[in-house]
Amino acid sequence: EQHQSRDLLLLGKKVLISAGPTREDVDPVRFFTNRSSGRMGYALAEEAANLGAEVTLVTGPTELKLTNDAIKQVDVITAEEMFHVMHEHFPSSDIVIKAAAVADYRPKQVYKDKMKKQEEGLTIEMVRTKDILKSLGEMKNGQYLVGFAAETSNPLEYGRKKLTSKNLDAIVINNVSSEGAGFGGATNIVTYLNKFNQQHEVSLASKHVVAGEILRFIDRDMKDEEG
Ligand code: CTP
Ligand code: CA
Repeated sequence: EQHQSRDLLLLGKKVLISAGPTREDVDPVRFFTNRSSGRMGYALAEEAANLGAEVTLVTGPTELKLTNDAIKQVDVITAEEMFHVMHEHFPSSDIVIKAAAVADYRPKQVYKDKMKKQEEGLTIEMVRTKDILKSLGEMKNGQYLVGFAAETSNPLEYGRKKLTSKNLDAIVINNVSSEGAGFGGATNIVTYLNKFNQQHEVSLASKHVVAGEILRFIDRDMKDEEG
């Protein structure tokens, strides 16, 4: 068995991961979403399980299937649902990784009937969703909290700001406009930055390899903090 030859670095750890996009309805046939495939979050869940962790994956709508049935999967659709499920599991988790691409806005009004087209154009009023990661950061007590940042410009600068403003322990910065990185694809290129401003680059690799690296950085940081 392949798993037994690995180091079970995360044995006994409870790991909570969110993945995929969220989906916000405007009427019964239309919704707003984004390009997240869920692959990075699913890869993190599978690699964490391979490292011995007890894993819960909270996932928005994706086409992916987990390969490991020891992972607990909770399906959600909207940012609001993800907020509630993440909060429910947060207190009992040791490591929390928010790889989901959460909608920042949802339509103010959700129409019960399909909207009919009009002669003129259409303006849809959007309102802000809750920032799940930020609210977890505010209630942290001992959890190692890791966010993701998807950026198309100044990734380090924006990533560092998110790390601080959301009270994270580390952030995985994703330059979604570079070739081989970001949404949809099977590979990624990331920068892992912790709250002590230590930075690790993970060069172009499959999302599974990148996931394994991220989990090893997290494990190392947690052991450093324990002293
Ligand atoms: N996030 C969240 N809840 C939201 C929006 C984002 O939990 N409503 C989390 C994401 O899961 C990710 C991190 O916050 O881990 C950063 O998401 P990102 O979209 O890069 O940053 P935002 O803070 O939303 O800022 P912006 O989109 O303006 O860059
Ligand atoms: Ca956002």
